Amino acid sequence: MRVITTIHEMQNEIKTQKSLSKSVGFVPTMGFLHEGHLTLLKKARLENDIVVLSIFVNPLQFGPAEDFSTYPRDFNRDKSLAECEGVDFLFYPSVEEMYHHSSSVRVVVQERTDVLCGKSRPGHFDGVATVLTKLFNIVLPTKAYFGIKDAQQVAVVEGLITDFNFPIELIAVDIVREEDGLAKSSRNVNLLPEERRQAAVIYKSLIAAKAAIEGGERDPQVIKSLVSAMITSGFKGQIDYVEVYSYPQLKDLAKLDGTCIIAAAVKFSKVRLIDNIILEVSQEIGGAK
Ligand code: PAF
Repeated sequence: MRVITTIHEMQNEIKTQKSLSKSVGFVPTMGFLHEGHLTLLKKARLENDIVVLSIFVNPLQFGPAEDFSTYPRDFNRDKSLAECEGVDFLFYPSVEEMYHHSSSVRVVVQERTDVLCGKSRPGHFDGVATVLTKLFNIVLPTKAYFGIKDAQQVAVVEGLITDFNFPIELIAVDIVREEDGLAKSSRNVNLLPEERRQAAVIYKSLIAAKAAIEGGERDPQVIKSLVSAMITSGFKGQIDYVEVYSYPQLKDLAKLDGTCIIAAAVKFSKVRLIDNIILEVSQEIGGAK
């Protein structure tokens, strides 16, 4: 594995690989790798000739009150993990390298951002879309891998790739879950033991919603109430949101139809967890996949 810190060197290397007709799998991250990232890397390794991992804590996507300077970083650990996963190139630019002059252009995401987690993070997805535009142009991936746990980010990236005609296949990788269904996250370690037991109810409530849809329920309000009631009966955490939208458009629905997302965010004493399920809903009873 080679660590590359400059845009110029990364672009040259990609040029060489492309001239050899190699497919490029790209996993963009902000480092401090966890199991979710490793799942993306494993899939990228299986599906491509070469794998590029980027580690860049992107200041543009942090709000003024957010934790850019204290965001966890451990490059040596990340590097060893990347080596174990068979990464070919680890792109690790500095902030100066990525934004070395005040930029004259920034990507503004017009839709899919004012709901779910984006509601409380104005400008966050503009920062994500701007850095990904740069990274896509530097790495020129054949396929780019993102975890569907952050379904709103995947929806925004889908819009970016489509609207800007990036010749990239977006691969949304399924949520990895603990045995009791809790979505894996590096934040789960911050749950108190009692909260950890209770947190399994989030996924259980999403599964109950799926069962209700399979039973013929198509009213988004009923589904939201069902999920909220089940979560609040299961623990003392505080619901941040439970929402039902079309996916990936993230628009309100009068009636569940087509591809839909049911998403929840729940606050515990020290940590906020998110989870979702995405379903294909038809108008026949039982029509949910
Ligand atoms: O999901 C992340 O880690 C970041 O938002 C991403 C996609 C690497 C862009 O900085």
